[in-house]
Amino acid sequence: MTDSPARLAVFASGGGSNLQAILDHFDALGTDAPGIVALVLSDRSEAGALERARARIVPAVWLPRDRNSEMGAILREHRITHVALAGYLRLVPSAVVREYQGRMVNVHPALLPAFGGPGMYGHRVHEAVVKAGARVTGPTVHFVSEHYDEGAIIAQSEVAVQPGDTAEQVAARVLEQEHRIYPRIVADLCAGRLAAAG
Ligand code: GRF
Repeated sequence: MTDSPARLAVFASGGGSNLQAILDHFDALGTDAPGIVALVLSDRSEAGALERARARIVPAVWLPRDRNSEMGAILREHRITHVALAGYLRLVPSAVVREYQGRMVNVHPALLPAFGGPGMYGHRVHEAVVKAGARVTGPTVHFVSEHYDEGAIIAQSEVAVQPGDTAEQVAARVLEQEHRIYPRIVADLCAGRLAAAG
């Protein structure tokens, strides 16, 4: 890697509030930003994340699941140096994971290794947390490996679960915390301030 500014791709399947937090944080850093959001990629054509990208004149690409094998070529075409998964629900092809090892991160809405793994995403995570009677939850940011939610952990942030909390209440509190920690970690990643692992 050279010291030239990072060209970050954000992958998202949903509303893209974490994408928005990253865009806002990079804007706020101004000339101190370690790079730019150069691509937003989604497996869902109607994802709010694609709209948010277009609103910022960031290239927005819809990659349907049956064209997943084109992902590497798309990233090369946009000269992507780093990747942040933000609510992306498809498995990233192994070849792409290997190519971006140590330069691709994910945010998961629970304290891994608890409440992670295949099928544990979105609302299901918070429902499982409430059902298990956990007293604490919170986001985990980790490097992406070839297995769901198993890469090296970079940061975790604890959020209390109050007795009687619904999954919706827990989800909202965790999401707020994600918005606080994820953009900073993504900026650190792009600046080369995270120990390479994966
Ligand atoms: C977040 O809770 C994230 O942890 C999970 O998916 C959700 C995405 O939300 N992986 P948004 O699309 O960023 O609003």
